[in-house]
Amino acid sequence: THIITSPCIGTKDQACTEVCPVECIYDAGELFLIHPDECIDCGACVPACPVSAIFPEEDVPAGEEPFIARNHEFFGA
Ligand code: SF4
Ligand code: F3S
Repeated sequence: THIITSPCIGTKDQACTEVCPVECIYDAGELFLIHPDECIDCGACVPACPVSAIFPEEDVPAGEEPFIARNHEFFGA
């Protein structure tokens, strides 16, 4: 899956939602989050985000690891 991290907070640009082919990016309040069971890892959302908030789960930068659990737990995964 892909993971949305802290730069989304306060930005919520939503360009990612427009390019996602499976519409698996949801408004979670202060940021958007990706449903891990629906994401097909196409990567289209990564360059679409103007604040570079989205990463493949295995490439989440140091310090942003708490957002991995946040993306999973929001959807009960
Ligand atoms: Fe959607 Fe593809 Fe991004 Fe997954 S990687 S959230 S399927 S655009
Ligand atoms: Fe957030 Fe970037 Fe999408 S700011 S809503 S992850 S385009």
